[in-house]
Amino acid sequence: MYASLKSIGSYVPEKIMTNHDFEKIIDTSDEWIQKRTGIAERRIAAEDQTTSDLGALAAKKAIERADIDKSEIDMVICATLSPDYLCMPSTACVICEKIGISNVMAFDVSAACSGFVYILQIAKSFIESGTKKNILLIGAEKISTLVDYTDRGTCILFGDGAGAAIISATEDKNEAILDIHASADGTYADLLITPGCGTKNPCSHDMVDNKLQYIKMSGNEVFKVAVKTLTQDVVDILENNQIQSSDIDIFIPHQANLRIIEAVRAKLNFPKEKTVFTVGKYGNTSAASIPMAINDAYEEGRLKHGDLMLLDTFGGGFTWASALVRFGGK
Ligand code: UT7
Repeated sequence: MYASLKSIGSYVPEKIMTNHDFEKIIDTSDEWIQKRTGIAERRIAAEDQTTSDLGALAAKKAIERADIDKSEIDMVICATLSPDYLCMPSTACVICEKIGISNVMAFDVSAACSGFVYILQIAKSFIESGTKKNILLIGAEKISTLVDYTDRGTCILFGDGAGAAIISATEDKNEAILDIHASADGTYADLLITPGCGTKNPCSHDMVDNKLQYIKMSGNEVFKVAVKTLTQDVVDILENNQIQSSDIDIFIPHQANLRIIEAVRAKLNFPKEKTVFTVGKYGNTSAASIPMAINDAYEEGRLKHGDLMLLDTFGGGFTWASALVRFGGK
């Protein structure tokens, strides 16, 4: 029995924040942002929209496209670093309530930008073991609530959005998730961190005054490790599966910075036309980045049944993951 990515869906909030909007609130320019990151605009969720609202809308689309009834879904996992609630209930449970799924195992995974590929690995294992048949995966972020809009080194990078997928059992290897490699190294934890609100720096007036609830990043250091790790990860997964980069139909990297994607693409010699770029219009949507990019490729007609996708992601922790996935959708 194999696990197959049978469908994909996404949701992006209506509000667009452009680089010119940032020129009005911080010392920056559209030119600097475009040149250093490739980002032109990003989506920002409405004040009354939560991460679970975005996730539920993406999930509905993925369920519709999978052509299954929601009663057939036997597990729900949400990857997010911006959950509705810090401790409980999980965003996955809230999404289940919003889309009318109950009495199934539902939980969140915290692996920052690598979250979606991490939960893909979990789903693959549950399906291959025969424990579950149809699993709903969601990567959803309202990351704008974690961004300090006075910190020009981070605020221009992130955006809100959600992506979702249905992973189902199949006997057909031509539509299977072939391999996933996921890993982490906690020695880099301080380079990309939200220091506040947890047990280390619990909620307090002091914590808020010091803005510890927001994302802090040593951008340049993260950049260097990201390029090195993303490149090595792809080399390893291709080698382990004896697959040449020319066998890949579509390369879907994490969308954090165009320069990172271009550096990895150049080192691996991937053609531009086989690579998906969404960072320009969505910025970095963390755990939602990969499923949103798969969805864009699908909606643009760039993905057909059996196509070999290479996913590659990197994020806070540090965490990283890559996957070789034959598209199982129609
Ligand atoms: O998703 C998880 C992974 N995350 C990432 O992979 C993000 C990785 N990091 C990056 O994408 C880049 O490091 C940034 C885009 C965040 C920054 O680009 P950089 O080329 O690494 O710039 P830098 O941090 O080395 O800063 C260069 C200069 C500094 O000025 P000085 O010290 O040279 O005078 C910054 O203060 O650029 C300045 N700067 C800005 N200038 C205008 C930083 N942010 C801005 C800004 N507008 N928004």
